Amino acid sequence: MSTVDLTGRVALVTGGAGGIGAAVARRLAKLGARVAVLDLDAAGAHQVASAVGGIAITGDVSDPATMPAAVAQVEEELGRLDVVHLNAGIGGGQSGVDALDVARYRKLVGVNVDHVVYGLCAAVPALRRQGGGKVVITASLAGITPMPSDPLYTLTKHAVVGYARAAGKALAGDNITVSALCPGFVDTLLLGAAKEEFAAASFPLLTPADVAEAVQSVLAEGGPGEAWIIQPGGKATAYDFRGVPGVGGGQLPPPVVLGRV
Ligand SMILES: NC(=O)c1ccc[n+]([C@@H]2O[C@H](COP(=O)([O-])OP(=O)(O)OC[C@H]3O[C@@H](n4cnc5c(N)ncnc54)[C@H](O)[C@@H]3O)[C@@H](O)[C@H]2O)c1
Repeated sequence: MSTVDLTGRVALVTGGAGGIGAAVARRLAKLGARVAVLDLDAAGAHQVASAVGGIAITGDVSDPATMPAAVAQVEEELGRLDVVHLNAGIGGGQSGVDALDVARYRKLVGVNVDHVVYGLCAAVPALRRQGGGKVVITASLAGITPMPSDPLYTLTKHAVVGYARAAGKALAGDNITVSALCPGFVDTLLLGAAKEEFAAASFPLLTPADVAEAVQSVLAEGGPGEAWIIQPGGKATAYDFRGVPGVGGGQLPPPVVLGRV
């Protein structure tokens, strides 16, 4: 695994109070970064932040005001921003194909999709002020392959993989590398009761530390707009979307922004 020196750098991790985010916060601190830990769970965010010598920020990432305020707080208190891990996420929690709890659906999209858009748009001006930076979005294998047990979760994760791939290309000229990380199932609280079913089936799970190691690999080696996969027992690798035509088919389209005016 390639290493990366984050001495003197500042990172912001969303969903950093537990699971993957807490493991990534610890990893980034070990690599030398000062880390801001953002979470809805104030006590958990404070616990992780104090363990890594960073700062805690409490907020709901689905609120459009949270990410701009968090970026401003990080720059004010830690002086700069170099690395952003947009990681907070939740499961779909409903079938989503024959009935719909609309409030729950909006919340899912708010946390898993809107947060990533709000987070990237808030972070980019701060990263530009440092001459560039890295953004890693926690998507999921459900972002590149269907998860029939949770179509709404699949929808949100496909959305952020697409966003990372396009935004990554759009920001490459700014020396800002945006990547998506697509882990298989990870042993965290997000699994809920399914954890027992995985255990009963002897289904292998990743650990949060495995995913933190994959984030390190992405930071060290990730190219703009890449989607990396990590599965139990495997090494993190960039997924090759081979054979998929570009948006212009065989032809490169002009750099248009779509939408009626
Ligand atoms: N666990 C898995 O199997 C798995 C697999 C692939 C991808 N992921 C993704 O990894 C990311 C992290 O999930 P995890 O497995 O560590 O789960 P987790 O539940 O352990 O951690 C998620 C964290 O996000 C925080 N959070 C949730 N909603 C929030 C909100 N509105 N505002 C701020 N913070 C909020 C939670 O408080 C929690 O600390 C998610 O995006 C998830 O979709 C998880």
